[in-house]
Amino acid sequence: MSNDEMKKLQGDLIKAIEGAEGSAALEAVRVEALGKKGKLTEMMKTLGSLDPDARKAMGAALNEVKVAVTAALEAKGKILAAAAQTARLEKERIDITLPARGGESEGRIHPITQTYEEIVTIFAAMGFSVAKGPDIETDWNNFTALNIPPEHPARQMQDTFYMPAVGEMPTVLRTHTSPVQIRTMMGQKPPIRIIAPGRTYRCDSDMTHTPMFSQFEGLVIDEKTHMGHLKGCLLDFLRAFFGIDDLPLRFRPSYFPFTEPSAEIDIGCSRKGGELKLGNYGDWLEIGGCGMVNANVLRNCGLDPDQVQGFAFGTGIERLAMLKYGIPDLRTFFEADMRWLKHYGFVPLDIPNPAMGA
Ligand code: PHE
Repeated sequence: MSNDEMKKLQGDLIKAIEGAEGSAALEAVRVEALGKKGKLTEMMKTLGSLDPDARKAMGAALNEVKVAVTAALEAKGKILAAAAQTARLEKERIDITLPARGGESEGRIHPITQTYEEIVTIFAAMGFSVAKGPDIETDWNNFTALNIPPEHPARQMQDTFYMPAVGEMPTVLRTHTSPVQIRTMMGQKPPIRIIAPGRTYRCDSDMTHTPMFSQFEGLVIDEKTHMGHLKGCLLDFLRAFFGIDDLPLRFRPSYFPFTEPSAEIDIGCSRKGGELKLGNYGDWLEIGGCGMVNANVLRNCGLDPDQVQGFAFGTGIERLAMLKYGIPDLRTFFEADMRWLKHYGFVPLDIPNPAMGA
């Protein structure tokens, strides 16, 4: 066989290898070239009958073809294996965009999360930003800096879970979100306008109290902030949140160590026929506490009460959710009962909207 013929054979075989459309076709080409009765195998067999010089030349040429064909077979084998793998993955792919069947496995947004988002949405529109603090607080942030010194009777207002001390500093599970006021005033300069939503803890458990619950705090500090701003701000928020345009708000004088003067926040309601209805009906319902930030608290945070002043308020997130969405028992919020969540929860793809469900 001439060199040209040899090159042609090599070319033909490699073309056949490259054109093989599957592993079976590739195997057929391999057998045709290198199998027991394959073309190259047959030609190898003829080498014996050649004279030594011709045998040497022909042997080397045949070997070259064999090496090239073997390499091509191997390369094509890899390509086909990869293609087969891709095809299999494609076939076995799970389409996670399939809608859930029967609705059972469809998740729901918990009413606390929903209410949290609604509160943040409304306050964000009023120019507030969200501040956060840790659940485990120093005794100083939770009490002392808030004008509740050790042994002060106000500490008994909140049944505290005490935690192991960190060095000299006793720590607690925060009993309210008010320590975020301290963290914020220590960490940034006025003007300050924040809300601080989060979990709070008190050693308490009955129909209307759970050891863990959620609050949100509001804090505004500026040069001339006064109680009128506090009332207007709460009125705007509560009317937007409940979707009741004429919802009345009443400040009832009260006492908190960290505010002076202090007030309980009451909103209008009716209890006629044992049914609670919010609105301008002459009766009142307490929903939180508020006041002007006590000068001692400002001083504790390194602020000068002659330069700046402001207001703070705090209320329960579950409490607002119960009122807005008609959820009767606080404890059910934490029972993780899927039937409850299905009934009171929200569809995840609905964008939180302050007027939802109002
Ligand atoms: N921290 C108070 C409570 O948990 C609520 C409050 C906050 C009152 C801010 C006044 C000002 O009861």
